[in-house]
Amino acid sequence: MSEPQPNEPAPTPGRIPHGPFRPGDQVQLTDPKGRVNTITLQPGKQYHSHKGTVPHDAIIGSPEGTVYRTSGGIEFLAFRPLLADFTLRMPRGAAVVYPKDAAQIIAMADIFPGARVVEAGAGSGALSCFLLRAVGEKGLLSSYERRPDFADIARANVEKFFGGPHPAWRLTVGSLEESLTETEVDRVVLDMLAPWEPLDAVAKALIPGGVICAYIATTTQMSRIVEDIRAHGSFAEPHAFETMLRTWHVDGLAVRPDHRMIGHTGFLVTARRLADGVTPPARRRRPAKGAHPAPRDPARPADTTPPADAPPPADAPPPGEAPPGGHATPGGDAEA
Ligand SMILES: C[S@@+](CC[C@H](N)C(=O)[O-])C[C@H]1O[C@@H](n2cnc3c(N)ncnc32)[C@H](O)[C@@H]1O
Repeated sequence: MSEPQPNEPAPTPGRIPHGPFRPGDQVQLTDPKGRVNTITLQPGKQYHSHKGTVPHDAIIGSPEGTVYRTSGGIEFLAFRPLLADFTLRMPRGAAVVYPKDAAQIIAMADIFPGARVVEAGAGSGALSCFLLRAVGEKGLLSSYERRPDFADIARANVEKFFGGPHPAWRLTVGSLEESLTETEVDRVVLDMLAPWEPLDAVAKALIPGGVICAYIATTTQMSRIVEDIRAHGSFAEPHAFETMLRTWHVDGLAVRPDHRMIGHTGFLVTARRLADGVTPPARRRRPAKGAHPAPRDPARPADTTPPADAPPPADAPPPGEAPPGGHATPGGDAEA
């Protein structure tokens, strides 16, 4: 494919994220204090700062990483925003998945080029952008969002990032459990308040070996989705984890973690779809005390509970069978 010339508008979709700046490109201008302004290049326009202007025509055609001086003598460094920059600065309806978690989702849910992926909810479209990048133009990302106003925000953000409609993207307004139409799906990624609600629909859509990945904000949600995946019978043992990212201050002899960090974003739970008719392998460890749903023997005092690796008692329910019991109420961080 030939490189577009500097004065041609960037092609859509899939704005080319390299080469000289072109009309229509987004550009991040960073001032000496590290403040960032994002502009969209238009021939004939000016960027106005509190200390003078830079003509867009001076930026168009120059390489990324160029420094421009305003008429008032302030220097600005210009780069195209990376996807991580874009998602943190784009307009939001719902809270977005942070880049560190999007990266984990791509890796641990094994999103690959050409994959058929279902996502809910689309929210502000941040994770949709990462997933579209990973599946590529020959894959499929089918995103479901039950709030029409959020779906509009997601669509606007995705189209702004890719410079137009992405050929691999379908966006459906509706709840996943009622609207999911795709079959033979490789991966399902859920970022929604109650990811256990569409489990039947997800199990039906996923191919054997497919991956379900839920991103949840609270421990109570994590507990419920793990226990419901276990009890469902269509999935292998789930994995639950979180990622903490600590940035560092590196300056001369002052080399230490930054004083501030984002302490919490969310947890991830992944599980593989079993083949139809297969019973999940028996867990080798006894469910922990208070496990959901809990096999309880009220006659046994709490302090005589055998160790976790002890053989099950004769009256224990068969492995894999779900004894009765309720679920914790999800903590329910607000979604909007
Ligand atoms: C936290 S937001 C998702 C943010 C999104 N992942 C992003 O990075 O921009 C959760 C979204 O799920 C939507 N939602 C909740 N339950 C849903 C369901 N059953 N089906 C479809 N969307 C749902 C909500 O309306 C909300 O917009």
